[in-house]
Amino acid sequence: MMKNIIEVRNLKYKYENESEQYILNDVTFHVKQGEWLSIVGHNGSGKSTTVRLIDGLLEAESGEIFIAGDRLTAENVWEKRRHIGMVFQNPDNQFVGATVEDDVAFGLENQGIDHATMVSRVTEALEIVGMKEFKDREPARLSGGQKQRVAIAGVVALRPDIIILDEATSMLDPEGRLDLIQTVKRIKDSHNMTVISITHDLDEVALSDRVLVMKKGRVESSSTAKELFSRSDLEELGLDQPFSNQVKVSLAEDFDLPTGYLTEKELQESLWESL
Ligand SMILES: Nc1ncnc2c1ncn2[C@@H]1O[C@H](COP(=O)(O)OP(=O)(O)OP(=O)(O)O)[C@@H](O)[C@H]1O
Ligand SMILES: [Mg+2]
Repeated sequence: MMKNIIEVRNLKYKYENESEQYILNDVTFHVKQGEWLSIVGHNGSGKSTTVRLIDGLLEAESGEIFIAGDRLTAENVWEKRRHIGMVFQNPDNQFVGATVEDDVAFGLENQGIDHATMVSRVTEALEIVGMKEFKDREPARLSGGQKQRVAIAGVVALRPDIIILDEATSMLDPEGRLDLIQTVKRIKDSHNMTVISITHDLDEVALSDRVLVMKKGRVESSSTAKELFSRSDLEELGLDQPFSNQVKVSLAEDFDLPTGYLTEKELQESLWESL
């Protein structure tokens, strides 16, 4: 049995100065060690707030968070945060270095890692995200997508046990995004990391192990991507229809296709069969 690296139980949260309304209302879920968990849901459903609580940036009004078996408390929050590498929604607020290379090195310097290891980790991380030739550039002058790549490199270089991506590839074009996500997945698999990724990208959801849907401050469901894509209320959940669903709908009159979600490959195969 895989153990739960994160357990979230009955979290309640509301922001200061907000109305009486709870932003998180009894949020409960778990993340298994080595899992890639996607979190999807409408704007404002509480996705970012949930991961900020896990990273100890916010404190819940009630409920509990367990990280690697220990309950997150005010005393151990700094130690626990070292297990987590988080990439935020807005890449502009997360640069500290004068150059791309310095920026990626920053977290490693803080961990007191020796110089040779640092150089090789930084080079490797920049290579992984396809930003090696930008190492001497100033982060502020990069495009949104390039900034996101550098922010991901900063986290990958640290090799944390848990990577949290909060719409961390939203500014990349679809191909660049899928490519980067597949690369992060390979690193995750080779280092037995766990990934939590908040995303609107269906290709990414498709390659994750499990998907949580958040709705109005609650976990609406937990399922495989396949189960989620077979639902008839995707729009209500703030999600687009996957490409293969769209194709299926437009071919429904002329082809007798199986019900439920089909991957693009499965759709292709059923079309061949029915021809
Ligand atoms: N710092 C803040 N102060 C007050 N209210 C906030 C703050 N941050 C978020 N909120 C409110 O909390 C609710 C949930 O926000 P959150 O950012 O967790 O949602 P989200 O699911 O990540 O949405 P999105 O898809 O837009 O990123 C929203 O109504 C938002 O307006
Ligand atoms: Mg958000």
